[in-house]
Amino acid sequence: MPDYIGAVDQGTTSTRFMIFDHGGNEIARHQLEHEQILPKPGWVEHDATEIWERTRSVIATALNKAKLTAADLASLGITNQRETTVVWNRRTGRPYCNAIVWQDTRTDRIASALEREGKGDVIRRKAGLPPATYFSGGKLQWILENVEGVREDAEKGDALFGTTDTWLIWNLTGGSDGGVHVTDPTNASRTMLMDLETLEWDDELLSFFGVPKQMLPSIAPSSNNGRFGVTRADGPLGGEVAITGVLGDQQAATVGQVCFRPGEAKNTYGTGNFLLLNTGHEVVRSKHGLLTTLAYQFGDEKPVYALEGSIAVTGSAVQWLRDQLGIISGASQSESLARQVEDNGGVYFVPAFSGLFAPYWRSDARGAIVGLTRATTNAHLARATLEAICYQTRDVVEAMQNDSGVTLDVLRVDGGVTANELCMQLQADILGVPVSKPVVAETTALGAAYAAGLAVGFWKNTDELEQNWNEDKRWEPSWTDEQRAEGYAGWQKAVGRTLDWVEV
Ligand code: G3P
Repeated sequence: MPDYIGAVDQGTTSTRFMIFDHGGNEIARHQLEHEQILPKPGWVEHDATEIWERTRSVIATALNKAKLTAADLASLGITNQRETTVVWNRRTGRPYCNAIVWQDTRTDRIASALEREGKGDVIRRKAGLPPATYFSGGKLQWILENVEGVREDAEKGDALFGTTDTWLIWNLTGGSDGGVHVTDPTNASRTMLMDLETLEWDDELLSFFGVPKQMLPSIAPSSNNGRFGVTRADGPLGGEVAITGVLGDQQAATVGQVCFRPGEAKNTYGTGNFLLLNTGHEVVRSKHGLLTTLAYQFGDEKPVYALEGSIAVTGSAVQWLRDQLGIISGASQSESLARQVEDNGGVYFVPAFSGLFAPYWRSDARGAIVGLTRATTNAHLARATLEAICYQTRDVVEAMQNDSGVTLDVLRVDGGVTANELCMQLQADILGVPVSKPVVAETTALGAAYAAGLAVGFWKNTDELEQNWNEDKRWEPSWTDEQRAEGYAGWQKAVGRTLDWVEV
């Protein structure tokens, strides 16, 4: 058995390839960003061809750096930004249009019409999701209705749909020369098209969006040896490697954080925040604005479900301070600037740039900064931005505790923003529970590697993976209960100011 597992992590802003050893240690990585295409307010697109090119180069460069070849990899895992919708032609291999990214809100009318027509409850019951712009179904409907030739080609079976896992697997395994068209149930569970209980595409849901079934990929367990195909020898790996693990990125981070038991949860701080709580084999229906989603399905084992709190804008609010306001020059400066003040000075920032996701699901919301006085400085704004990341997390933790009855005794965290010590301290203060970060912070790529390795016996079982998890750092709450309650009341008032802002 070769000594390493490779994992592609195709994220919202960049694509990386990482190589791990048996202890879950990183051996090499390479990462490249791709363009964020913003043609109109609320629209966010990616060029899927650029993503494929970036994927090719990060794989080749990381292998080179490590002086390894395809023969050193026991298998390959893929993890990806979820919901982002790609439609391409199976003969030419070319996408019909730019991919519509999960943050894109152009489908708000499609989502509100579903609710008006009484289809919302069917989607909630079958797919575990509220009708929202976030998920792929409406994006796919938009492409079928607005991009010339797609519907006709889809009826003929020539136009294929996929999230970026599917797009990359298809290209890695042969593209227009017979690439495998497949996804896993974690990705499929984000489309509004899959039945959560059967893990199959559902005809009634397909009819809501007018989606021809033949354009959809097959759904194979997240960890399996055989259904995802083998990379082409003349591709970026330069050899044949079996793809044996596929998970949406937040589910991959759940696996990378070894949250294998019901009641275990992780929170990933990236462009947005995504908190997932393992609910075991039980499909828990949320009454408080969370999503019910697939956590993972390993081989023939019963699927494991999760409750998810998805927050659209967290790390990207820090980027906004840098790119749009120009008050910081890099993410780390958000910490030094915010440290210049003792507290937020009464300022709250609700970064509802794409409406509000969990637990509110309000596409009519838009961002607001409230509580400004003559004494407000950039430092208060930086601090309010970090606090917004933490208050949004508190909103979803509250919802999760109300839905599941599980009280968190510690929050496992990962993702880029966890490098911000002040933000993590604020998180512990605002939640009133300790926050804990593992040594291997790249839990997303690691989770995809774990799924891939389990399928080929590189790792025997999940107990073995649990041995690899070690704590790096822990932040303990330091605020009084009174401070916490006062701060949260201010946040909730600020959220109220962002609602009903645009008509949908
Ligand atoms: O649902 C969207 C999520 O998968 C995006 O994650 O880390 O690429 O921002 P990330």
